Amino acid sequence: MTMANRSLVTMDDLSNGEIEVVFSLANEMLESMDKQSSVCQGKIMASLFFEPSTRTRLSFEAAMHRLGGSVISAVDIGATSLAKGESLADMARIIGDYADIIVIRHPWEGAAKVVADYAGVSVINAGDGSHEHPTQTLLDLYTLKKERQTIEGLKIALWGDLKHGRTIHSLAYALARFGATIHFRPGPGLELPEHVIRKLTTEFEGILERYNDLNGTVKEKLFPLDAIYITPSTSHQLTNIPDVSIQIELKTGVDALYVTRLQTERLSTEAEGEGLKEDYPVVDKKFLKGKEFKEALVMHPLPRVDELAYELDADPKSMYFKQAARGVPVRMALLALLLGTKEVSVPGEEDLSVPKRDYPLYRHDFGVIDHNPKCVSQQGTEKRYIKPEFKIVNREPLILRCVYCEHEFEPKYIASSDWHEGRLDSKKYHSADSHWARKIKSENLIVFGSESEAETRGFKPSHYVRKRR
Ligand code: NCD
Repeated sequence: MTMANRSLVTMDDLSNGEIEVVFSLANEMLESMDKQSSVCQGKIMASLFFEPSTRTRLSFEAAMHRLGGSVISAVDIGATSLAKGESLADMARIIGDYADIIVIRHPWEGAAKVVADYAGVSVINAGDGSHEHPTQTLLDLYTLKKERQTIEGLKIALWGDLKHGRTIHSLAYALARFGATIHFRPGPGLELPEHVIRKLTTEFEGILERYNDLNGTVKEKLFPLDAIYITPSTSHQLTNIPDVSIQIELKTGVDALYVTRLQTERLSTEAEGEGLKEDYPVVDKKFLKGKEFKEALVMHPLPRVDELAYELDADPKSMYFKQAARGVPVRMALLALLLGTKEVSVPGEEDLSVPKRDYPLYRHDFGVIDHNPKCVSQQGTEKRYIKPEFKIVNREPLILRCVYCEHEFEPKYIASSDWHEGRLDSKKYHSADSHWARKIKSENLIVFGSESEAETRGFKPSHYVRKRR
């Protein structure tokens, strides 16, 4: 099997079988790290880090050096032509001619997808804003597998900034796919974004029990548990009597506690940060004495700030330095596979297909402009050539998901591009929640953010819109 010329932008780009392939090759690499120097000889990796990084950048570069390849790098947007207003697409085309593989970290959500769309060589997302960080997830899963042999059936608590943490988003998707149960324990106001929850529950078919759904007595005890994602294999038993089941679920404790720092650089104001910092949970020896965490591995993508006490470093259950160290063999394996210098055969080839859903696409550039100011498709330099594109992930209610940042929104007004043989008097727009929304075929759908937008485009309010005014 070859994975040559593929890109890794989100966890959706690798099947579970392929992840296992990366791990078995990482094991091989780990056994003889200093004997791999002919694997990528003559290959060049471009290392583009436009946000701070220590572990991810240096472990990618160390990995490429260990494989005998070379590295070219840019670590500051200000020192590249992006600062002169060059687009990511142009930069990608150029660097794709200089290097055989590109690793990119960028503050805009969806930036790695744009680079992958234009580079003509494999691209690895090393973190795109708050969106995803799939290679961190690979080494997190690799660590879980090494320590606990399997991921299926594990219970993992995700702790801290679940809203902005890209490592959390990638990890949650992967854990769900591998059949783990996830406990969400966010800092106040830092709950997992709704679009991530939706993807978890619709695409990986588990169920989400929200903390708010539970009765008062349980609430007291559960604080600060926000929700539990229950993997499909156990969901039947647990959904019957949720409160009781969840009490049982909690008694048995979690297998790992994955701690994250408050992502201060993603907050909109400093004041917001001040309040959150004060309330941010701290994990220390005393905290881990709690029944639920007795056997738990303590994981963290690092860097840590105040949320993880140094007194835990000597505990054999503390995994964070091991996780970081394992970044090198895992990234060596990934580079060799995507560069096509290693091919691996695996049993159960049928498990290798990437589990992607075929959603209809929405490709008009109106009605959807302001879905996320941090999305790459909203940036001045990129708007010149990126046509917004959305997956229609649900019809009732109508929900569109951006193909770049994966944020979702519910349009307020809709129309059909197939308006009765083009007769002007039937060019009507409707409320998205009216019965018309169901009737319009996905390929004919047009959405509007407001009534005035619809009217500017020559559509008149339908009877129902007028009645609701
Ligand atoms: C993480 C990141 O950059 O998202 N760090 C890393 O790559 N190990 C986590 C973080 O910065 O908090």
